[in-house]
Amino acid sequence: RKKMTIQHLYQMRQTGTPITMLTAYDFPTARALDSHGVDIALVGDSLAQVCLGLPSTTRLTLDEMLHHTRAVARGAAYPLLVADMPFGSYHASPEDAIRSAVRMVQDGHVEAVKLEGGPEIASTVRRISQVGVPVMAHVGLMPQRHAALSGYRVQGRDAAGARAVLDGALALQDAGAFSIVLEAIPHRLAEYVTARLSIPTIGIGAGPGTSGQVLVWDDVMTRWHGKKAKFVRRFADVGHEEARGVQNYIAAVRDGSFPNSETEGYEMAGGEWETFL
Ligand code: KIV
Ligand code: NA
Repeated sequence: RKKMTIQHLYQMRQTGTPITMLTAYDFPTARALDSHGVDIALVGDSLAQVCLGLPSTTRLTLDEMLHHTRAVARGAAYPLLVADMPFGSYHASPEDAIRSAVRMVQDGHVEAVKLEGGPEIASTVRRISQVGVPVMAHVGLMPQRHAALSGYRVQGRDAAGARAVLDGALALQDAGAFSIVLEAIPHRLAEYVTARLSIPTIGIGAGPGTSGQVLVWDDVMTRWHGKKAKFVRRFADVGHEEARGVQNYIAAVRDGSFPNSETEGYEMAGGEWETFL
């Protein structure tokens, strides 16, 4: 399989070939995405909740993110490797944002960065893109702003909200974003925004009319027991299998059936036991 590139993503958009993207936070997950041909691996800042047990993405630091992006980079050869710039790492000034983006590439080994925000971050997106770090934008529901938004709410349901999503997407494309995530917006709006843009859109809770889809690994695999969003589909039940494994292990240790001395252990070399005694 040839390495996924931004150019190829544009071709997929052009030919109407749906783009697949999943989150990954560690090496084995990156290997799974790689070996089955997921097009984009996203080290999302959802890492904060599903992997580190933090209450929200706003707690995640740049150093914590880099530790995980390096692990994913080791396993993701085929997928384009994108990672979220953590809350606070791109807001203080464009210079600060560039420094953080460069660290994502140099220390984090990512190929592209993702930033949440609308027209107000367009100049930052332009500067980072101009340095040569490709930027994926993220509009609609922006989890890094959950407190300001009074929760995780669907965006763009009224005309003014829909206008804001469209204007944001257009401004970010204009600023050089190579792709854009549309999160939790009505499907008609997502389809319309996709048609108005020339860059690929990746939807999450945005219906089937985008250029591609993204979901959080732990949601897909049922390994996460936070509140399930309406848009999440469970594609496997790893949580159930994990529970079975832990329970069976505990039971076998407690009843003495694990380990088996014949098949799950080692023998002394011939005659050595007697010598030892
Ligand atoms: O952090 C994340 O996992 C994300 C995607 C779900 C888009 O931003
Ligand atoms: Na994110």
